[in-house]
Order: sequence, then structure tokens, then C-alpha cells
Amino acid sequence: MAEQESLEFGKADFVLLDTVSLEDFMANLKLRPTRQQNIAVIPSRRWKVRSLPHVFVHHEQGEISSVPPVDTKLCWWSGGNHDSQPGLSESYPVFEKGRIYSYIGEVVVSVNPYRAMNIYGRDTIEQYKGRELYERPPHLFAIADAAYKAMKRRNKDSCIVISGESGAGKTEASKYIMQYIAAITNPSQRAEVERVKNMLLKSNCVLEAFGNAKTNRNDNSSRFGKYMDINFDFKGDPIGGHINNYLLEKSRVIFQQEGERSFHSFYQLVKGAPESLLRSLHIKKDSTANDYIKVGGHVKSSINDGADFKAVADAMKVIGFTTDEIQTVYKILATILHLVPYLVLMLCLGYLPALHCIPNVHKRRSEGNLKFGSDGDATLIENTKLVAVLAELLSTKEENVEKALLYRTVATGRDVIDKQHTDKEASYGRDALAKAIYERLFCWIVGRINDVIEVKNYDARIHGKNTVIGVLDIYGFEIFQNNSFEQFCINYCNEKLQQLFIQLVLKQEQEEYQREGIPWIHIDYFNNQIIVDLVEQQHKGIFSVLDEACMNVGKVTDEMFLQALNGKLAKHAHYTSRKLSPTDKSLEFDRDFRIRHYAGDVVYSVVGFIDKNKDTLFQDFKRLLYNSSNPVLKAMWPEGKLSITEVTKRPLTAGTLFKNSMISLVENLASKEPYYVRCVKPNDVKSPLLFEYERCKHQVEYLGLLENVRVRRAGFANRQTYARFLQRYKMISEFTWPNHDLPSDQEAVRRLLQGCGFEQDAAFGKTKVFIRTPRTIFSLEEQRAEMVWRGTIARMRYRRMRAALTILQAYRRYKVKSYIREVNARFRNVGSMKDRGRHVKWPTPPKVLRRFEEALRNIYNRWWAWTLIKGLSPEEKLQVKAKVATLECLKGQRADLGLQRAWEGNYVKRDTPERASSFTLVSSDLQRKDKFMRVLFSCNVRKINRFNKSENRAVMITDRHLYKLDPLKQYKPMKSTPLYNVTGLSVSPGKDQLVVFHTKDSRDLIVCLQGMVPAGESRIGELVGTLLSHFKSEKRKLQVNIANPIQCSMNGRKCTVVVETKINQSQPDFTKSRSGYILAG
Ligand SMILES: Nc1ncnc2c1ncn2[C@@H]1O[C@H](COP(=O)(O)OP(=O)(O)OP(=O)(O)O)[C@@H](O)[C@H]1O
Ligand SMILES: [Mg+2]
Repeated sequence: MAEQESLEFGKADFVLLDTVSLEDFMANLKLRPTRQQNIAVIPSRRWKVRSLPHVFVHHEQGEISSVPPVDTKLCWWSGGNHDSQPGLSESYPVFEKGRIYSYIGEVVVSVNPYRAMNIYGRDTIEQYKGRELYERPPHLFAIADAAYKAMKRRNKDSCIVISGESGAGKTEASKYIMQYIAAITNPSQRAEVERVKNMLLKSNCVLEAFGNAKTNRNDNSSRFGKYMDINFDFKGDPIGGHINNYLLEKSRVIFQQEGERSFHSFYQLVKGAPESLLRSLHIKKDSTANDYIKVGGHVKSSINDGADFKAVADAMKVIGFTTDEIQTVYKILATILHLVPYLVLMLCLGYLPALHCIPNVHKRRSEGNLKFGSDGDATLIENTKLVAVLAELLSTKEENVEKALLYRTVATGRDVIDKQHTDKEASYGRDALAKAIYERLFCWIVGRINDVIEVKNYDARIHGKNTVIGVLDIYGFEIFQNNSFEQFCINYCNEKLQQLFIQLVLKQEQEEYQREGIPWIHIDYFNNQIIVDLVEQQHKGIFSVLDEACMNVGKVTDEMFLQALNGKLAKHAHYTSRKLSPTDKSLEFDRDFRIRHYAGDVVYSVVGFIDKNKDTLFQDFKRLLYNSSNPVLKAMWPEGKLSITEVTKRPLTAGTLFKNSMISLVENLASKEPYYVRCVKPNDVKSPLLFEYERCKHQVEYLGLLENVRVRRAGFANRQTYARFLQRYKMISEFTWPNHDLPSDQEAVRRLLQGCGFEQDAAFGKTKVFIRTPRTIFSLEEQRAEMVWRGTIARMRYRRMRAALTILQAYRRYKVKSYIREVNARFRNVGSMKDRGRHVKWPTPPKVLRRFEEALRNIYNRWWAWTLIKGLSPEEKLQVKAKVATLECLKGQRADLGLQRAWEGNYVKRDTPERASSFTLVSSDLQRKDKFMRVLFSCNVRKINRFNKSENRAVMITDRHLYKLDPLKQYKPMKSTPLYNVTGLSVSPGKDQLVVFHTKDSRDLIVCLQGMVPAGESRIGELVGTLLSHFKSEKRKLQVNIANPIQCSMNGRKCTVVVETKINQSQPDFTKSRSGYILAG
């Protein structure tokens, strides 16, 4: 953990200092980069160090005082007292552990190590991936991870603002941040995301070649501002990006200060391009140039133009520049080399120290390659051969090039005339052309890269919200010997960014505490708004005064602009000039003005301000380039299409354009969640060994780092409205999950924090809760993640169950459907089958359909029965009804129900044919007498009489009576009992043919059927069924008992009849027993 790092590295976070003073801060800053070592003063003859400008110190009360530059004391980069002067040794292993970063809360403070560090590899990336800030030693990766996490967690755009003066390490930091983001994203290795990442990384190399240059402050100084948005999809993978570029210092194309170079691209071309390409571009390696190098000897530099040329060419190819486009880029570079002062090309091959030895070097610096002379009144091009070369490179006609260089087309009323330039005007036009085509080339390159990396085919409704991390790497605050319009713009830009930092980190924060009613002691800081206003205010600001001067008709000089400034800003505390401070000899009369910037005093020379602000390029050049037959070049100059007579609006000035772009940049940054990297430059000589104490102290002061520590120390790392806080963490506490029933959200948040033991680390404002230490937030996040994880698991299980259920239901449906389909298939044609489908086997139903199957079978059976019944005669139907009644009544209770045979009912005639005629006679008599409709049943029987004697008789049952007949007397009727007197029947469960007719008057008739033909035929089933069916048709009830012994009444006396099996009994017969009768059979 960062806080537990060894003490030799100092505190990882300045907020943890024991006391907050500048001395303590500096002591800790020195300790951070290395181990304890001795300090040594560097002999001044070895390292020539520029003296520092005046420093202004902001006091706690808000005053500002200017401190004269202190003699720079150099010390070995180490701990200890910078005033001591021990011996000097160059072999100290500095930056051994790579502790070049530290924190102020979430702000990273970075000190430029000026040497390659082994702290950006894959291993380190892995250490920081997904970790919280406090878990690892301070690093850029940690802040990049924090910005990434914030974006993912809260779905909010974030931005990383990297600030510091020129050479402090901003560009390097921005590249490491992008590398880190590229390394931790796209775990699923999607090809499109890999492509986008590759493009984003490769674009750096191209932009640096065309937009960076060696300055006296930095070998690879950004001469343009860059703000890059990286777009992420909902999964957090980069899906594209966009680069905004700000004001390129294009004057560098034609002029560089001593010791500096033009943009890298020129040198890369000359040193790295193959001979054939150079020849086609008409660039020769000049032998005298090599002489210059020899004179000065080899100057060591970190730049390798030759190798960089190849790297940039490769990168352009990867990004998607076509061969024609790349060729055009080279042609434009060559055009500029042919136009601009000859020395630029020479400088490609050497560095300034060498040039001191060249005679008349300064004279030659102002000469152009393309020179103008005069012949009387006419202006001439001296080296006319170059015109042909330019025409070839620009794919246009020679005479057009010449005309554009020497004449200007002017519209006077309706006439259009060609006005010849003076040689001074022609030189001005040439330089303006060189600057303009380079600037246009640069913007075109940025545009092409944007075409390739911009997010395509993104639909927020399908892909979720598209979030952004912006990385701002802009030119750092700089002070040169001669500071012109560009430095003025660059330093204004740094003022704006400092103002944003103040607004977000120092001002708004403190104001919020007051607003929310949190006890707070105000911390004083220097607010540079006054300087921002000095530059950008309407009417009074320097840009406004400059624009006013540019708008004046007639000749307005830079001096007149300075006078206007003096008039308007005489009383401004941060502005002065020689006129206003006549004794200040560091300022030249009518040339210089000084601004007291937040980062130091800078003297600007007004020379060139008007021209640079107007940024005029004769329309003739625009038309010349638009009419080129090279389509790539033509496309860069669309405004060349306008003819001279077409009135165009006066374009905005360079200053106003820059001011507007800065205002919108700051607005854009302010709308995102900002993360800061504050870069400190340890020395002016690019040494990995020097820690210039005063220099660093100066930066710490003007960056406002100490105030940052103070606000941070007293302040709160995190704040959220109560509602938002609850929304995010309510699952942690039982009081708040899923909803709280406390009187207010504030109370609920308090309860939640109490439960976690964090109440002491929080303050409760009117609308927001403030959490003091980040660790509390991390811990809440951890708990939340755990709960969310549990929830996720529960949801996962639930989803799985649901899925199983769905599968189950689908399976069931499938089983049901296939069962029904099967039943349907098997029974579809049963109607045409002979047995109506009786033989068809029912398929096995799924469990859930068992009852359904039963019902289905019933339906089938009914149908089947109906098909059988519908063809029957009325008699047959009666028989079926009787059989059904038998089945319902006796099934399973008696053996042999006689269902298989036809039921004839009237058996007496069949069993005793010899006496059939007598029976018929009797039966007809009775029918006449008793008016019955039909004989239901008749049979010979054995009967027991009231004297306990058994006799042969016959019974005949009609639809009205039960008759007892005497067979021996021609079936003479002996007794008739109306059927409505019969209440029930009793039969035994055996095979015997006993039947007892119960009557209402308790004179039961006990008989046993006999004399059946064929012998042994069982007729009890038929008798019972026929009677039951008849009774049913008359809607009367007939009680049927199956029992052995059978209870009955004889003339009102209760008795029993028992059926017994007896061997040797040929005919069943009754005998008397104690309780009644025995039927032996
Ligand atoms: N983290 C680092 N590790 C090693 N060297 C570094 C690091 N940061 C910066 N440097 C060195 O410092 C030099 C200047 O850094 P860089 O170009 O990033 O400065 P800058 O702040 O972008 O300056 P400018 O405002 O001029 O563009 C780099 O070329 C490199 O040599
Ligand atoms: Mg830079």
C-alpha cells in the first residue's frame, strides 16, 4: 500500500504530510524521486542554466509580491538539504525505484525523470488494473484506471487534464495513459476494438512528427494543443475517438529561435527518405551542410530523424493514408523547404551550437530559398528555376505559380486588376504561403485521422450509452528570449487551464462546503481570473485591442497596437510596458509589454502581432492551390473556389479563433469528471540527475499545489446527494434495502454509514453527504460489489430456474402434443374399422394426462357403445339395458352373470316344450286379465312353501305382476303379486340360482331357478338385470342384496336362507334349518 511505502521515498500523498508548508512539501517532493543521497552543486561552467524570471508569490491573504530571480542552486536530485555541497559523483543510481509520482488526493504530481524508466511495462499495468488508488504506489496508471472506473461505474464522461510547463512531461504522460487504457480494455479481443486502439496509438506518432519540434526547452515540444476524446461502448471498450487540435505554431516554419528547429517532419524527410524520393522532390543533400556539422562536432540528441521517418510512414499506412496522400504530404513538405529560408534545410543536419561557428549565420537566416529582386519597377524572382520545381510539386502550371508569387488580383468595383507586389510584399506572401500550407496540411492530417478513428455505426439504443474519456495534452507554459504572438496564446491557454483547476479544485469545492453548511475555514489561494480577463475580456482585453487594431483601415503598426494597450491597461496590476514603467530597462520602448502570469513574468515583443493575428493569405494562393491537378491538394483548399469578385465575410482573427476554441475547450472539460496530472520539470538542461530546488519550488507555487494539499486535507474526497448515495449503496444496509421508512434520505444515509462504522468519516450537508477519505468510498464500493454479486448470483439462480421451468413446460407441451397427435393418428380411422377400434392400443399418456386419458377412453367407449346400439332393434336395446343394469349391480359380486349369451327372458316354453302350449294359454289369459304388455322373465323353479316343504313351481314376471304358477296343473296361476309390491331382490354371491323376492307385506318368495336347458345355465344375472332395467324405466327403485345367508321374511317371520354345497346332491333343494332354510346344491 502506498502509505506503507518505505519512508526513504517520503509520503506517497502530500495530504499525509505532518505539517503543510512549502518547505515540507519540497522536502517530500525531493524524497519521492529517489533514495537518500548527497547533494552537489553543479559547476556552472558545465551546465549553463537560464536564470529564472521574476517569481510572484501569493500570500495567504491574497496579495501578490514579485520576488526577484534567485540564483539557481542546482543540487543532485536527492533528499537532504539543498544548500549543502558535498562531492560530486555521476554514478548515483537515481530513480532506482521509479518513484517519480506522488499524489495530492486524486491529483498526480509527476516529476520528469529525463531517463527511460522501467515502470510502464505489462507487469506494472497488471498491478494497477482494477485497483483502487490507495492500493498501489502512486502512478499515472492509477489515475488512468480511476478515470476509467469512474466512467464505467457512473456512466459519466471523464477527462484527464495534464498540465505543466514546456518539457515537464505532459506528452509522455498522455501517451502512457493511452497505452494503459489500450492495454486494459478489449478482453474479448474484438478485432474492431483492436483496430481502433491501434489507430489511436499510432496517431500520436504522426501528430508528433508534424506538430512537435525541438525547442530550447524540450527536444520534442508540442507546438499545437491536443485534446483527444476516446469513446467507449457500454462494455468499456474503446470504439473510436476524436482529436481536437489547437493553434499550431506555424511561424516556426519560417523562423526558429537560436538553438531550435522547425517541425520534425522536415528533418525526418531529409534524413530518412530514400534517395529516389528526395530526387523526385528536388532535394539534394548539400555538401556544405555536412561541413557545418563537422565544424560544430556531433551534438548528442534524443532525436533520430532517419528512424522516425520510417516509423511515421508506417503509421500513416496503418492509419489508412493512401499512397497518393502520403506522396502529397511529402510534396507539400518539399514545397515548403523550397520556399523558406535556406538555413532551415541546413539546420536539418545539425544543431545550433554548431551554427555559432558559421560566418554571417544570422544574415543568411533571413534569406529565402526563393528570392525576389527588382528590375526598375518590376519585381522579379531571382532563382526562377525554383518556380518550375514548385509548379511540379504543386501539380500546377509554372506561369500560375509565378503570377501568384508576384501579383495580387484586386477587385475595384467591377474591374479586376493584377497588382504587382513589391519585393517586400512578395517575400511576405511567400512566407504566408509556406506557413499556411503547412498549417493546412497539419489540420488535414488531423481530419484524416479523425475520419478513421471516429465512432461509426453506433446506435445508443442498441449499444448503450457511449461514454468518453478525454485526454488533454497542450503546449506548456513557456518563456523564451523573444516571446511573440504564439507564446502569448500558449501562455493564455495555460492561464485558462489553471483557472479551470482553481474553479474545480479550489473554488467550487470551498463554496460548496459553505453552501451545504459544513463547518469550514476558508483557504486562501491566488485566483488567476484577473489575468484571464486581462487577455480575453470584451473591449478591454488584449485580444480585443488587437482585433480593433487589425480592423482599422489604413496602416496600423505593431507599435500603434502597443500604444492602444498602454492606454487601456495602464492601471492593470498584471500589465506593464516601458512607457508605464520607464525605469524598467528589461523592457524596450515601443516594442515590449510584460504580463505577470500566474507562472511568472513574461515579456512579449509586439513585433508581428498584427500580421499574425490577421493571418492574411492572398486569395491568389488559395486559387492556385485549389486549381492544382493533385486532388488531395485541391481538397485541402476548398475556399480557392471563390472568384475574386465574390464578397467574402471578413474572417475571424487568429487570436479570436484561438480564444473561442479555448473557451469551448474549458467548457467541455468542465462538463466532465476531471482528473489531474500536474507535471513538474526538475531542471532546464534535460538532466536525469538535477533537481533545481528553486525551479521546482517555483512550479509548486504557481501550480497552487500547496493550496491543493490544504483544501484536500481539510476537505472531503467525495460528495453525493443523499438520493444518489442511497441509490448506489442502499443494498448494503437492512435499513435502506429495498426502501427505507426513515423520515428523510439524510437520516437513511446516516443509518447506513453508522451500520458500516463510517459515521465519523462523513459530514452531513443540507442536500449532500460528504465523505472525508477515499478509503471509505472504496470500502462502500467493495461492500456494494459483494451485495450486487450476491444479488447477481440469486438472479442467476432464479434465471436458471425460470429457464428450467420453461424447458419443462415446453417439454410437457411437447409430450402432451405428441400424445394427442398419437391418439389422433391411432384413432382417426376407427369409424371405418370393423371392430370400431376396439383392438387399437391406447398410447401411454404422460402423467399429467392420465385423467384426460380416462375421460378420453370414456368418450371413446360411449361412442363405441353408441355405434353398437344405434343398429339394434327395440328388443335388443332392452336386452342391452338389462345387461348394463346387471353389470352395474353385480359386477365383481357374483360369478357368471350370463352376459355372453342372448337373453330370451321367457324360458318356460323353451325349457319344457312339451308343456309350452299350456303355458302360452295361461300367459294369454293372464295378459287379457291383467293387461300386461310383455313377459319379462319366466322360468321353472323350486320353491319352499309355508309348511317348509319344497315344491316345483314356475315364476312368470310381466311388466305388472309376479306370478307363481303350478307346472303340474298346466301352469295354473297360484298367486300373483303386483310388481309395485316387490321391494327388492336378494341373491347369493355364489353360482347357485337362489333368488328371494322381497315384498311390502313381508311375504317373501324364496325360489331357486331350475330345469334350465341347457342344464346349468345361469339366469340370476338376467333376472336381476331385467327387473332392475324395468324398474328404472318406471322410475322406481329396486333394492338388490348380494349376501349369504340371505335375510328374509316368511309370512311376517324373519328367517335366513343359507346356500351350502353338498356332494351327491343331484338337484339343488331346500331343507329346513333352525333359523330358516338351507339350499343345498
Ligand atoms: N515519464 C517519463 N519517463 C522518461 N522520460 C520522460 C518522461 N516524461 C518526460 N520525459 C522526457 O522529457 C521530455 C519532454 O517531455 P514531454 O515532451 O512530454 O514534455 P511536454 O510537457 O509535453 O512539453 P511541451 O509543452 O513542450 O510539449 C521527453 O522527450 C522525455 O525525454
Ligand atoms: Mg508536449
